[in-house]
Amino acid sequence: MLLWDDPIGQLKPREPKNYTQALPVNELLQKVEQAENIAPTLSVNEASPPVIAELKEPAVAAAHASGLEQLEFGARRLAVDDKKMINCRADLNQLVPFKYKWAWQKYLNACANHWMPQEINMNADVSLWKSRDGLTEDERLIIKRNLGFFSTADSLVANNLVLAVYRHITNPECRQYLLRQAFEEALHTHAYQYCIESLGLDEAEIFNMYREIPAVHDKASWALRFTESLGDPTFSTGTTAADQRLLRDLIAFYVVFEGIFFYVGFVQVLSMGRRNKMTGVAEQFQYILRDESMHMNFGIDVINQIKVENPQLWTEQFQREIAELLDDAIKLELRYAQDTMPRGVLGLNVNMFEEYLHYIANRRCAQIGLAEQYPGANNPFPWMSELIDLKKEKNFFETRVTEYQTGGALSWD
Ligand SMILES: [Fe+2]
Ligand SMILES: [Fe+2]
Repeated sequence: MLLWDDPIGQLKPREPKNYTQALPVNELLQKVEQAENIAPTLSVNEASPPVIAELKEPAVAAAHASGLEQLEFGARRLAVDDKKMINCRADLNQLVPFKYKWAWQKYLNACANHWMPQEINMNADVSLWKSRDGLTEDERLIIKRNLGFFSTADSLVANNLVLAVYRHITNPECRQYLLRQAFEEALHTHAYQYCIESLGLDEAEIFNMYREIPAVHDKASWALRFTESLGDPTFSTGTTAADQRLLRDLIAFYVVFEGIFFYVGFVQVLSMGRRNKMTGVAEQFQYILRDESMHMNFGIDVINQIKVENPQLWTEQFQREIAELLDDAIKLELRYAQDTMPRGVLGLNVNMFEEYLHYIANRRCAQIGLAEQYPGANNPFPWMSELIDLKKEKNFFETRVTEYQTGGALSWD
């Protein structure tokens, strides 16, 4: 059991920074015009490897394959060395030969962990929520604010994946995982909706929190600035600046949004579950935490692979920018902790979250090859590591995973 006393730290709000590199309108229009003239086609009977998509306009030869190019009959067969994480110009519709076996393995692991929100019994939560003195006002606030943040956050992540990231990741085995991840994000939004409906909460109040509650709004709009530039239809990777923009978006979503912005909420709701309160909601969050930890690890592998293949992107200046970005994100997440938990509750307080966020930020930095930014930070919630630890997840979720693996076979009478 956790028992800490709690002087609550004070936070000063900071002005959000603009990380996107928006183009002036005339430059944007020029790019649209260029893009309209350069539909990529597969070259026929060229001396150069014919699996490569050739462009009419050399100025934009950096454009990569999308998987939608015309097929060239009789082209050279795909070789594993043709594959690249970004800016690949080889056929993206051929899953094999695998180059990044870890990506395929993560796809298989994710499928083996399949679950559905309706399988979790919410009866105890419903009666606790409806009973007059079952929960304190502080505990109710934690549930409502977190459902408010997460119910729209997972849609933001899904939209970033499908509308921005997917088309720039030029590798079929990674795209296979991205498709699985996108479905899981849909399940997460479903899970939050299911909790909201089960408890009979005001849907409009919860789903509008990212427009109405500053601490929720600030995290969502921080993330949107990264995805919106990549969603621009005229944006293409292939230059150092553009590739850094993609890398920055990947770090913002996988490392910060899914790797930091989710964690105050996870700790708060799982702490309630550990105290036998709102156990259905907590169980939903537990499954989501397991998925999210895989998403983050996949994202980190992608980021590191891009770094290996494109070392010129990882400049000193870029690293400084990422460190600053992490620092801003931690301040936003601390404000969120303070907002969701104005007083110490459940043995938690804001100072503990500051320590925890520094601790996980150090871990994220180490994972992407950045110097640790908060030396000496410790983990005040060692029980969280047990939940996240991939080695233990199989035992923890054994029953349900087994059900899926055996229940997956269909039978007809
Ligand atoms: Fe999610
Ligand atoms: Fe996710």
